[in-house]
Amino acid sequence: MNWDSLIEAAWQVRGAAYAPYSNFAVGAALLAVDGRVFTGCNVENLSYGLTQCAERVAIGAAVAAGVREFLAVAVVADTGVPISPCGACRQVLAEFGVPRVMLANRDQRLEFGLDELLPRASSGILDRPE
Ligand code: THU
Repeated sequence: MNWDSLIEAAWQVRGAAYAPYSNFAVGAALLAVDGRVFTGCNVENLSYGLTQCAERVAIGAAVAAGVREFLAVAVVADTGVPISPCGACRQVLAEFGVPRVMLANRDQRLEFGLDELLPRASSGILDRPE
């Protein structure tokens, strides 16, 4: 797993973040199984609630390109400790089974399995009692 280039791609796209309300820019880079990298930045909205996080923008870019299988995602921001994805993004990453997640700031990297960040994401939802 070459985290260096994925993290670099996330820093690059972070420069495009549209975050006039929070002034908090985030970048995400997704590595697909075919080796392609799809990136996203956060895109905020005056209504706040319509804000799109960087992770979900990256997923959308990949899916729109016909790509649905991924190996990893890197998420970066200029925070004191590495950024922590919101619950909605964890669920969307789980939808596409992104197995490894790297969270980074300028000087620290934390790697997780998605199952650590969102345990039991796909179990039970459609289960019915006997
Ligand atoms: N944000 C992301 O893009 N990804 C995260 O993992 C956490 C938060 C964005 C949403 C909003 O534009 C800003 O960061 C502040 O929450």
